[in-house]
Amino acid sequence: MLLDTFGRRAVDLRVSLTDRCNLRCTYCMPEEGMQWLGKTDLLTDEEIVRLVGLAVRDLGVREVRFTGGEPLLRPGVVGIVRACAELEPRPELSITTNGIGLARTADALREAGLDRVNVSLDTLDPETFFRLSRRRRLPDVLAGLAAAEAAGLTPVKLNAVLMRGLNDHEAADLLAWSLEHGYELRFIEQMPLDAQHGWTRSGMITAEEILERLSARFTLTPEPAAARGAAPAERWLVDGGPQRVGVIASVTRPFCRDCDRTRLTADGQVRNCLFAREETDLRGALRAGASDAELGALWRAAMWGKKAGAGIDNPEFLQPERPMSAIGG
Ligand code: 5AD
Ligand code: SF4
Repeated sequence: MLLDTFGRRAVDLRVSLTDRCNLRCTYCMPEEGMQWLGKTDLLTDEEIVRLVGLAVRDLGVREVRFTGGEPLLRPGVVGIVRACAELEPRPELSITTNGIGLARTADALREAGLDRVNVSLDTLDPETFFRLSRRRRLPDVLAGLAAAEAAGLTPVKLNAVLMRGLNDHEAADLLAWSLEHGYELRFIEQMPLDAQHGWTRSGMITAEEILERLSARFTLTPEPAAARGAAPAERWLVDGGPQRVGVIASVTRPFCRDCDRTRLTADGQVRNCLFAREETDLRGALRAGASDAELGALWRAAMWGKKAGAGIDNPEFLQPERPMSAIGG
């Protein structure tokens, strides 16, 4: 099992399949000048499946989420999903994507064994989408969402990050649209994980502000805390339910005490936290011929050293060197 000194157990593995992306969201990447990982830096498909297999068989991982960058840019994504769906015990499999590639891949992913998708959707306005992501791809995202739903990759969950003066006026519109389509929307507080280190605490829209904007149009009733478990989202019933909205308040109401995550970067490093300042190199050990038992021991040691919390809201907080796109969301 992947335990730490605070009694937490990691059962949810996030695997980044690539650090590259076909968008340039301002809260994530600069317009130009990203340094991408080289081909030999990346784990191969087989190496990823071996490490996921080990995590599932020997380390107690029950849920695997593929992230990026944009995971659907990885040519082998369907094969990786298929191989992971054949593992025993079979993990829950999902993908966090910007949605652009879903129109092309949703059916194949479903057939390969993918259970669900999380799609990033910050705006429904094409011009705002362009300002936010620097690409004109909103129609592709919407087509991707429809394809995911048609393929049965449900419930489709949406992630939205609000940016002051850019899309924060759209909170209620996004919720209305999500309810209409039967998608479960979660707002995520913007975190200091952008490659250009441009995050400021005052620029961030807080959970409280998000709830204020939603309450102007909807009646929100908190879901009992017991229903939350290790899920980062706090949830509210909308207008009496059954539909819900979530808020992931990573900065103002951190959920580190209940965190059950472990992360594997596209270049084969274990991170015990999004905000960790250290990584454990599994790729080097794997390529040097380490056994599953040795790799498992390295992974366990990496998690044992997990800190109590990230403390983003503390003045001493230091942003990790690698951006979210390299770590995996
Ligand atoms: N803060 C909060 N969320 C972010 N995401 C990417 N960068 C940030 C950030 N700095 C979101 C994406 C995606 C998920 C993986 O994380 O929009 O939905
Ligand atoms: Fe790409 Fe996601 Fe980063 Fe946007 S937030 S640039 S979609 S990796």
